[in-house]
Amino acid sequence: MATLVQTETSLSDKMTDSWEVDLIKLSQEAMAKAYCPYSKFPVGAALLTTDGKVFTGCNVENACSNLGLCAERVAVNKAVSEGYHNFKAIAVCSEMVDKYITPCGGCRQVLLEFGQTWTVLMSKPDMSFEKRSVVDLIPLPFVEEPWLKTKDYRGSIG
Ligand code: THU
Repeated sequence: MATLVQTETSLSDKMTDSWEVDLIKLSQEAMAKAYCPYSKFPVGAALLTTDGKVFTGCNVENACSNLGLCAERVAVNKAVSEGYHNFKAIAVCSEMVDKYITPCGGCRQVLLEFGQTWTVLMSKPDMSFEKRSVVDLIPLPFVEEPWLKTKDYRGSIG
């Protein structure tokens, strides 16, 4: 019989002195699960919803390299597939001690899909972090325009 796997954590179970540090710790726990035999560059992410739930992610690579997924996207996909679209923050971590990990361009666009003003915490292993809003990381953003909704999406055939 299949065992039910709990995919979300509540941040209030993990409270210490600051919610940012708590979220970074959860991202570090997720990083331990990274599947990155090709890059050997583990990354972790922890995504906090506006109602206090946390979805974590790690990078998941593939022998066919363009099929690999970043930790941030794994966390976002887990949350969205469980019905959560409203986010307060995402913490991201790596093993780099002298540099904050910064989301790749593709992940910035994916974060933008769920709002411009929520928070990205880019951390180092010692828990220090740089805090920015999504739109700071992706200026002049491409967001859905009303005219897209009026378009016929079937494309032209022949
Ligand atoms: N990676 C992430 O998961 N998130 C980032 O913010 C940057 C890069 C992953 C992708 C790939 O598995 C590995 O790190 C090396 O680029």
